[in-house]
Amino acid sequence: GDITTLEVGAVVNAANKQLKRGGGVDGAIHKAAGPELQAACDELGGCPTGQAVVTPGFNLPAAYVIHTVGPVYHGGDRNEDSLLESAYRNSLRQAEYHGVRTVAFPAISTGVYGYPLSRATHIAVGIARQWLREHDRPEKVIFCAFDAATKAAYQAELSDEA
Ligand code: APR
Repeated sequence: GDITTLEVGAVVNAANKQLKRGGGVDGAIHKAAGPELQAACDELGGCPTGQAVVTPGFNLPAAYVIHTVGPVYHGGDRNEDSLLESAYRNSLRQAEYHGVRTVAFPAISTGVYGYPLSRATHIAVGIARQWLREHDRPEKVIFCAFDAATKAAYQAELSDEA
């Protein structure tokens, strides 16, 4: 699916540390939200890897955009897994803080940033399951898969644990 079309409380953006409009899901979110989104990002002054910041959704159906910065994958021994875990956890924390009931994630870091798909989806599903067990908000997490390979990776991960 296309995350920019989802009518949810918040969509998560796979952003960069500068919070400057890029390609991929970031470009799609900026295009759909309109130029006010970049202006709001500029006021925040950036976001470290593994952290998450929030703006309104502007022209998106989603009320909020949670911008998180996943790690660039360099082979897996540069703390990438714990940074990706932090990106998911801090995004969920922002959703909770803003009272969001449903949050939708793209497959953070698996595009330009080169994270292996199954390693990334394993982390995404694990962190989300743990969060949902321990917190009231958000109530629902959507993994928005943009292509067939991503969808298959999430399906495999979810059925493993079923
Ligand atoms: N909806 C949902 N998912 C999408 C969409 C969309 N409209 N467009 C792309 N994707 C998917 C990609 O197919 C990939 O599975 O989002 C996933 C993440 O890929 P990227 O967008 O490349 O994100 P990432 O790997 O985290 O790289 C972040 O890319 O665009 C720049 O500014 C961004 O520098 C940052 C970097």
